[in-house]
Amino acid sequence: MSDSVHTPPGPPLIGNVSRFADDPLRVLTGVQEAYGGQYPVVRLDPSVGPRFNIVLDSDLVHDVLADRDRFRRPAVGPEEQQRQGLLSSDGILWEQQRSVLQPSFVGGKLAEYAAISSDTVDAMIAEWPAEGTVDLHEELSVLTLRVITQSLFSRDTDDDRARAVHDAMATLSAEVEPSLADFVLPEQVQSEPSDAFEAADQTIEGVAQEFVDWHQSQADPPDDMITALIEAKSDPSVELSDDELIDEAVLFMTGGQETTALTITYAFYWLSQHPEMRERVAAEAQSVLDGDLPTWDDLSDLTYTERVVRETLRLTPAVWNIAREVRHDTTLAGADFESDEVVLMSPYAHHRDSRTWTDPLSFRPDRWAGEASRGHNSYFPFGSGPRVCIGKQIALTEAQFTLAHVLQEFDVVVEQDELSLQPSVTLRPRNTVRASVTAR
Ligand code: HEM
Repeated sequence: MSDSVHTPPGPPLIGNVSRFADDPLRVLTGVQEAYGGQYPVVRLDPSVGPRFNIVLDSDLVHDVLADRDRFRRPAVGPEEQQRQGLLSSDGILWEQQRSVLQPSFVGGKLAEYAAISSDTVDAMIAEWPAEGTVDLHEELSVLTLRVITQSLFSRDTDDDRARAVHDAMATLSAEVEPSLADFVLPEQVQSEPSDAFEAADQTIEGVAQEFVDWHQSQADPPDDMITALIEAKSDPSVELSDDELIDEAVLFMTGGQETTALTITYAFYWLSQHPEMRERVAAEAQSVLDGDLPTWDDLSDLTYTERVVRETLRLTPAVWNIAREVRHDTTLAGADFESDEVVLMSPYAHHRDSRTWTDPLSFRPDRWAGEASRGHNSYFPFGSGPRVCIGKQIALTEAQFTLAHVLQEFDVVVEQDELSLQPSVTLRPRNTVRASVTAR
């Protein structure tokens, strides 16, 4: 492999960045395929604004993600709407928040959340017709929001509010789809958020505010994530304002809910394309669960279901792109990097690299059989390093339980054969995903 950074040619005025903005998924996979194994990094060079770089070498991806001293996570979305929370914070603030929040994501807590997942999936399918169609993505958004708020905030979200959050997320995502303007124009002259964007943001904030207000009104609040944050606020060494408390609730509600709902939606899509695999999940569920609700102890026995979830996250990773900004001038892969340059690492592109994966575009859950495939460096749907996803185990458990329990009770077939994907902050379906459901 050459030890340098490669800059492919592009049209003179706007350079090779315009192609990226037109179709980022195609460019990222194309660059990975064309230059991976040859160059560790490819650089795109707009005529205005910071250069940006795509990391093709998977070991280098993990090095960058491990290095908080040289690289920071950039802010996402319009400046005035940016929220302070674990997902967006930096430096000491991030360290404080991660250590306050980490206990909510380990040990017995995970088993408690698993039980909540199980009951909430069961409540979802209790409302389904014995034979009919559902808006699958919306159903799963409601499900995952209810699981997050019951698990982390000890409160359920009613159906109307959960559907309003689902609609609001679609509005927000439509506006942060990468556009050419985001790459070539300085931030000050990029377009302002629309009224619809602000209204959607307010809807979500209103829901989060209710959870925080409820906790603050309790003499003896439950032992959960919001209580941990409220207690941390009274510690003078922790910087956390009232607004940041709401921001944190918003970021967990949206970040945790949407990614998980997308993953389960895509798993049902892939299983609809492969009926024999769908029947294998159903058969496994029947043999492990025997008609009961899944429990934490069943998780390790749902082995084929787990492979389906892993393979779904390989081909359709809800987080398709992970970005970092260079903090100060430095060198990487033998080349100079200036402060504020952007470094992109795309799970979507790495997960489809034909140098790493056999038959990369095929959905083949059994590629995950056996230990050898587990430590793949080219697979990072939850990121890597100190800022790896804190909700990974909640998401994996919820996805496995949902597939297993739904498919033991219903057959589910997504109607469309092709998914058109919108690469916004997450990888979303452009259109409604309808599925026919038939009770078994
Ligand atoms: C399948 C579902 C999920 C996927 C694919 C996913 C993916 C990711 C990825 C790739 C990152 C790292 C981003 C980066 O390094 O820039 C991340 C971070 C994060 N995720 Fe997830 N996530 C999922 C579910 C969840 C859930 C359920 C929660 C909350 C309960 C959650 C909360 C977070 C938070 C707070 C961070 C920031 C961690 C930090 O910076 O310390 N995620 N997630």
